[in-house]
Amino acid sequence: MHYQFPAFEKTCQSLLCKYLTPEIFEALKEKKTSHGYTLHQAINSGVQNPDSSIGVYAGDAESYALFAPLFDPIIQEYHGFGVDDIHQSNFNPNDLHAPSSSTMEEYIVSTRIRVGRNVDNLPLGPAINQAQRHEVEMNVSRALEALEGELGGTYFPLQGMSETDRNQLIADHFLFKAGDRFLEAAGLNRDWPQGRGIFHNNAKTFLVWINEEDQLRIISMQQGGDIQAVFTRLSHAVREIEKSVGFSYSEHLGYLTSCPTNLGTAMRASVHIKLPKLGHDMKRFEAIASQHHLQIRGIHGEHSESEGGIYDISNRRRLGVSEVQCVQDMYDGVVALIAAEQSL
Ligand code: ADP
Ligand code: ARG
Repeated sequence: MHYQFPAFEKTCQSLLCKYLTPEIFEALKEKKTSHGYTLHQAINSGVQNPDSSIGVYAGDAESYALFAPLFDPIIQEYHGFGVDDIHQSNFNPNDLHAPSSSTMEEYIVSTRIRVGRNVDNLPLGPAINQAQRHEVEMNVSRALEALEGELGGTYFPLQGMSETDRNQLIADHFLFKAGDRFLEAAGLNRDWPQGRGIFHNNAKTFLVWINEEDQLRIISMQQGGDIQAVFTRLSHAVREIEKSVGFSYSEHLGYLTSCPTNLGTAMRASVHIKLPKLGHDMKRFEAIASQHHLQIRGIHGEHSESEGGIYDISNRRRLGVSEVQCVQDMYDGVVALIAAEQSL
């Protein structure tokens, strides 16, 4: 296929615009992974959505090596992780210091920690075919429905779910939305809603999304600010799932995910937290967040706005830091944010 260097506007801020030079484009434009994934596909989301912050997706493990001249500097800038660095994992809840307190409970509405995972020896979502996606859904949902105790629950496929149920799950922060334009352009919404769904336990404190941006998003969440309890449940759940599902992992990049921001731990640990006063001093808010490696989102997920002075605060780094460190970043930052809020 013949295609040309994309014409980015001067105002484009994405890491794709920053690092895709005409030379890199020429060197990579004819390359194809063994699953048939091309540079054109890898950059399409950022080309179609010039307001992307990153703009690239990998189609398979091989993409990270084949398109390394583009992916490596993006990974370096987002995670501060170099080509010779090695990812380290530590998912041991005993190494986390995140005690809850009455002050934290006053400010934190809810806590959620998720990790992304993809099944070994299959392409990632952007390059997966329909049959492989169904295979993931079938094998993973079967493994999940065999879990017991607190983790025991039911798989609900998106296909056949009523609009009312689906919208309620989204409104309650349990389920992903449909029609995300970044995922759309990355090829991640192909054959929607087939093969997608959500597993959860009765209490909806342990949930797994199947075949959204990653093949699995394993989630632990609950009301209030007991970060330690949420992390402990997630650590246990991941260990249990790993007994029957093999995940795609690299010594260098950790758990492989379709978006390079999620590599490594693939972990986003967040709280919904009331910070109405800091919300009126965004400069100060952002300075504290940045100092603690945190990201600020609105309360309906990525690319949404804050409501009623409540923000979604989460760790920004995921690669080259352990799971424990991701959550510790979030916890320490939240303590600092609460102190700042109280001083106003
Ligand atoms: P992800 O964390 O999976 O990358 P999003 O930012 O889109 O993706 O969030 C997914 C959903 O999880 C959204 O409905 C969001 O409101 C919800 N969510 C995130 N953090 C929390 C939290 N601490 N408490 C309750 N819901 C949360
Ligand atoms: N591709 C989108 C962008 O570049 C999202 C990047 C990070 N978020 C994610 N859900 N992977 O802005």
